[in-house]
Amino acid sequence: MTALILDGKQIAQKLRADWKLRADRLNALGIAPGLAVVMVGDNPASQVYVRNKIRACREIGIRSEEHLLGGDSTAETVLGVIDRLNADAGIHGILVQLPLPAQLVPSVVIERISPDKDVDGLHSRNLGSLLAGHPRFLPCTPAGIMEMLKSTGLDLRGKEAVVVGRSNIVGKPVALLLLQAGATVTLCHSQTRQLADHTRRADVLVSAVGKPGAIGGEMIKLGAVVIDVGINRSPNGKLVGDVDYGAARERAGWITPVPGGVGPMTIAMLLCNTILSAERHAAAQGIELKA
Ligand code: GUN
Repeated sequence: MTALILDGKQIAQKLRADWKLRADRLNALGIAPGLAVVMVGDNPASQVYVRNKIRACREIGIRSEEHLLGGDSTAETVLGVIDRLNADAGIHGILVQLPLPAQLVPSVVIERISPDKDVDGLHSRNLGSLLAGHPRFLPCTPAGIMEMLKSTGLDLRGKEAVVVGRSNIVGKPVALLLLQAGATVTLCHSQTRQLADHTRRADVLVSAVGKPGAIGGEMIKLGAVVIDVGINRSPNGKLVGDVDYGAARERAGWITPVPGGVGPMTIAMLLCNTILSAERHAAAQGIELKA
């Protein structure tokens, strides 16, 4: 079996065409959807992600601004910037690029973002709403993964889904979304024993580990959907995921490439959340958005 490729760029492109119409409608009403990206320090990978996010905003009609802070910034400085952005009516989404330098506690920074502008969906209020089954902003990577699964046409009800990695940003929220979609979900992590015994049962396997080769071909059930969230630099400088792609392609039914799989979907869902936030802002002002 050779797997079908889940092309994140192509799926994102299709979704973005619809969202551009929504952004155009907002702009025509005088509400320019606005996203603020805060980056602390000069992590090279983060610089690439932020550049891609800003470019994607421009293409779709979202106004974006970058706030670049020195790597030695204090919590007071960073929280001060967030406070100003929270109070800025022209900003509908605030994203603090992770990881943060060691002197900053990520949860303290994220909790300072107004939950109404938390387009990353990482504030505890938004994660709590997701847990309770009435999400307001979905975290971008998990939401993008669900869109990719939708594109396969598979009915997830009753399927075995195995997620490897228990981060707040990917593993835990994607497990909740799979659960809501009716899958039977197993959440594995660094202390899981006999990982392969779990992954071999998976109709849907999501790996968000951050380690090249974490998922070998023999760990994959024939015909499974394999979603690779890892973005790792291999010793020869190439970008690779967590999954042994060559071996996995011979067993899986569908597989996401790295790059060009989950990455473009994460950016696409950020655009979606920013437009959604601007639409809510318009509705709160009594501005009617006609289709
Ligand atoms: N760093 C890597 N991925 C992400 C993401 O989706 N959001 C933020 N804020 N930082 C990241």
